[in-house]
Amino acid sequence: MRVILLGAPASGKGTQAHAVCDRYKIPQISTGDMLREARRHGTALGLHAADFMTSGQLVPDELVVDLIQERLDRPDTNSGWLLDGFPRTIRQAQIFDQLLEAHSVTLDYVVQLDVPRELLFERAIYRRMDKRTGQIYHLKYNPPPPGAELEHRADDQSGTVLQRLDTYQKMTAALLPYYEAKGLLRRVSGTGKPSEVTARLFAALGNA
Ligand code: AP5
Repeated sequence: MRVILLGAPASGKGTQAHAVCDRYKIPQISTGDMLREARRHGTALGLHAADFMTSGQLVPDELVVDLIQERLDRPDTNSGWLLDGFPRTIRQAQIFDQLLEAHSVTLDYVVQLDVPRELLFERAIYRRMDKRTGQIYHLKYNPPPPGAELEHRADDQSGTVLQRLDTYQKMTAALLPYYEAKGLLRRVSGTGKPSEVTARLFAALGNA
């Protein structure tokens, strides 16, 4: 199973990626997580990416393409993968197509999670993560247990969330017609309980 999960900021990609990866026993490859890790470790990449991320802009294409290329060279990707947050521009998608072709690998599905903008905003600003476990919570819809060590992402402040939503519309929404033209796109409503979204997502993946 090789799948790209698309969706606006806070549409539930990370939440759903866990369910899909558990079911198909494939690694979740999140460029956002990899960039945050690079930032935590203070690497040159992390330091370079930080300003873009905290201002709600996209990190330059070359940096994320290198990151993905390196990650896909690891042996755990041999039986498949789920990409969460990549590609995010037409240029990234085109370079990625060339990469797949060079490795004689085909993409099975591209699934878009559709969520209205007002819900996206609310999902982002009330999101919290447990630093120890990496578990994602929501103060309203999925409250953390007592004792969780909560982290509020710097880019989940309201002004930055609005900027990220605009960046998505300007740069990333163009991927929908791009993948539709290739016959790969499936659209799934990302509203309702996470378990309901998961069931729709599995159906879109053919319940294989
Ligand atoms: P990234 O980390 O990829 O952020 P994002 O796309 O904005 O996605 P999020 O992580 O915000 O949300 P999500 O869709 O995973 O939702 P989640 O499941 O957490 O990227 C961060 C930054 O890195 C970018 O802005 C950019 O700067 C840079 N970057 C990354 N990739 C890049 C690339 N390819 N090119 C260039 N730059 C790149 O859910 C959100 C909240 O909603 C949670 O609280 C959750 O509990 C809750 N929730 C989930 N599902 C439901 C539901 N069904 N009902 C109610 N609540 C729900």
